Amino acid sequence: MKRHKIAVIPGDGIGPEVISEGINILDRVAELDKTIQFNYQNFPWGCEYYLKHNRMMEKDGINQLMAFDAIFLGAVGYPGVPDHISLWDLLLNIRKSFDQYVNLRPVVLLKGAPCPLKDISRESINMTFIRENSEGEYAGSGSWLFKDTPREVVLQNGVFSRHGCERIIRYAYEYARKEGKTLTSISKGNALNYSMVFWDQIFEEIGQEYPDVKTFSYLVDAASMYMIKNPERFQVVVTSNLFGDILTDLGAALAGGLGLAAGANLNPERRYPSMFEPIHGSAPDIAGRGIANPLAAIWAVSQMLDFLEYPQWGQKVLRAIEDLLLDGTVLTPDMGGTATTHQVGQAILNRLN
Ligand code: NAD
Ligand code: IPM
Ligand code: MN
Repeated sequence: MKRHKIAVIPGDGIGPEVISEGINILDRVAELDKTIQFNYQNFPWGCEYYLKHNRMMEKDGINQLMAFDAIFLGAVGYPGVPDHISLWDLLLNIRKSFDQYVNLRPVVLLKGAPCPLKDISRESINMTFIRENSEGEYAGSGSWLFKDTPREVVLQNGVFSRHGCERIIRYAYEYARKEGKTLTSISKGNALNYSMVFWDQIFEEIGQEYPDVKTFSYLVDAASMYMIKNPERFQVVVTSNLFGDILTDLGAALAGGLGLAAGANLNPERRYPSMFEPIHGSAPDIAGRGIANPLAAIWAVSQMLDFLEYPQWGQKVLRAIEDLLLDGTVLTPDMGGTATTHQVGQAILNRLN
């Protein structure tokens, strides 16, 4: 029997609604496979907590999370608390404190998933985004000068360290080699004449060690166009923190919508806990109505199972999602259905055996 300690942070808005369906899936896996046990601890951190305590998590929150094998997070951010406070104090704090420098986001059009593109072979939307998740445009460094004067100037610094760029690019090359896929770097060296020139240089340097991996390098503007017009160009993709954020929402739109897009925040060395989450936010516009799509959170569970070294269960959960989409009768409104969050969760449970 293997026991895994899972920290659960449901967060705000639809976060708790989708997370509870994800937990049901983990429970089902443990029920079916007697060698696995999950112990959960719930952390009621988020914007409600902030309004009471003036902080998003307990003071020693990061220390408390350290003891867990994985973190399962819903979403944070809600009207009433400025977004830069809620996100920096919780989500980004966790990513940085636990050096979760790899953000692995599949952009895969499952069979039966809705796709807005016409005249595109469905198989061509099959990408793995590897987003730098610890520095870059999200370094959190800057200054606000001459505040509230006509001379006001605001600086937001990007930080691209050799260490940070090398490790994410190397991770991506290893990933592409293991999968026998091409690797595409997305950057913007023509305009960002320090950071992205450096990124491109490191992409080339590390590439010398991987002569077997076929590579492409695109500017981010052209890449956005190609993702729509020629998605087959992309297999494994490595990109900076901000570009990865934006392009994976675009990817989500290609692959069934935000309700179906998941991401893993990994510390590959396993020195610190990794975190699994849907990539969508707290969706205040639909929160509390029981209609949020739980499939992104459930796909994040599949990623967690892969990471905990149960790839057979990770695959089963993913196949259950695909089967549900193909069947098409139990879907939430964002996918054109009338089912509730819980009905979709139950329909996945019923497909797991
Ligand atoms: P959002 O992802 O919350 O919502 C964008 C749109 O997608 C909305 O129309 C919403 O209804 C829809 N949507 C999202 N997830 C859905 C789901 N599971 N099922 C059905 N529809 C879904 O993005 P936003 O509106 O820009 O942000 C809302 C808040 O969430 C902000 O405070 C933002 O900072 C925060 N946010 C948090 C995270 C996170 O914690 N990981 C991620 C993104 C945004
Ligand atoms: C995501 C989110 C976060 C990000 C925000 C909420 C800080 O958009 O996980 O994609 O930009 O990384
Ligand atoms: Mn995002």
